[in-house]
Amino acid sequence: MSKHFALVPAAGSGSRMGDAQPKQYLSLAGRPLLYHALAALCRVPALSLVYVVLAVDDGLWQRHDWTPLAAKLRPLFCGGASRAETVRNGLRAIAGEVGALDWVLVHDAARPCLDDHHVERLLREVGEDDDGGILAVPLADTLKRADAESRIAATVPREGLWQAQTPQMFRYHTLRRALDRARDVTDEASAVEALGLRPKLVAADATNLKVTYPLDLRLAEWILANRES
Ligand code: CTP
Ligand code: MG
Repeated sequence: MSKHFALVPAAGSGSRMGDAQPKQYLSLAGRPLLYHALAALCRVPALSLVYVVLAVDDGLWQRHDWTPLAAKLRPLFCGGASRAETVRNGLRAIAGEVGALDWVLVHDAARPCLDDHHVERLLREVGEDDDGGILAVPLADTLKRADAESRIAATVPREGLWQAQTPQMFRYHTLRRALDRARDVTDEASAVEALGLRPKLVAADATNLKVTYPLDLRLAEWILANRES
């Protein structure tokens, strides 16, 4: 039977947040932002281990308490210059511990409101399908393409369009092959698509937002507070 692992790239700087501290360490509901995603993944019984890929010179990790997650959590200090490179380095580092057919769920550190029920659904719906799959949300808004003067050049039909989220779940060997070929992709699925595979879209919801700008941090705080109560 193939096993399941999570791999969380957390070696970014969070430049769009405009804070001196990398955003994965900004405080959210009394914990570093990164803690929440790791906790959600550690709660999923099917996941054997949760690897978190940190910057080589990360000096902030050791300043926080990760002991509640210690049973499954494995930090790796081998992040790269881009998200794709961080994931690639992480995959190389775990080569000895993960089998070719095992599953890797790649999840952004910057998505702290991940609901473990959504992870369970992803695992269930992808099952042993070799093409893998990702959490995503069908688009609700009408889309406009802009011209150079911020005027509407066209309306893009939203039918069949989804917003990609994470986790993105693929077999270890598929991910390795995909990321070794595709260079600077913004998600794993696009690298896997380039191999000719057709990953599944598994419906999540807007609460699994990515914290990019300061307002997102406020929204994440609200989501976590209202989930706990
Ligand atoms: N990431 C990474 N290594 C990098 C760049 C990004 O591991 N060299 C991670 C981030 O830590 C984050 C995820 O990839 O968990 C998504 O990236 P993004 O939201 O763009 O985070 P940052 O790159 O840190 O933010 P920004 O682009 O605003 O600088
Ligand atoms: Mg970035």
